[in-house]
Amino acid sequence: MSGPPSWVDAGAVDDLAQSPRAMSALGRHVLVAVVDGEPCAVDNACLHRGASLEGGICRDGAITCPSHWWRYDLRTGALLGQAGVGLATYPCRVSGERVEVLLSPAPPTMGIREMLLAHARAEGKADA
Ligand code: FES
Repeated sequence: MSGPPSWVDAGAVDDLAQSPRAMSALGRHVLVAVVDGEPCAVDNACLHRGASLEGGICRDGAITCPSHWWRYDLRTGALLGQAGVGLATYPCRVSGERVEVLLSPAPPTMGIREMLLAHARAEGKADA
């Protein structure tokens, strides 16, 4: 899958201002929020063990991972307390009463069969 980025509807501004919401589109898994009136979106996979951040406590523009309590700034994706480490962020806009996120299609993932064949081809053990 490839193609240009697209604006994807993420939900109502008022709802996202109450609590962040996970969404999936174009192969991306994103957490969308509205912080101080500004929409923001980050990858919805904690850098610790990949847990979804949805349902984590959200306070002062930061969300706490519900699994082991790592905290992230929702506007920048920064892992709090770890300089230079953070989640990917995505451009957002408000359209009417809705929040939209600009997403590019995620690169295709390789299944186990394809990985084994690619490895075998690299080793010269399989026909192309
Ligand atoms: S998975 Fe998020 S802190 Fe462990």
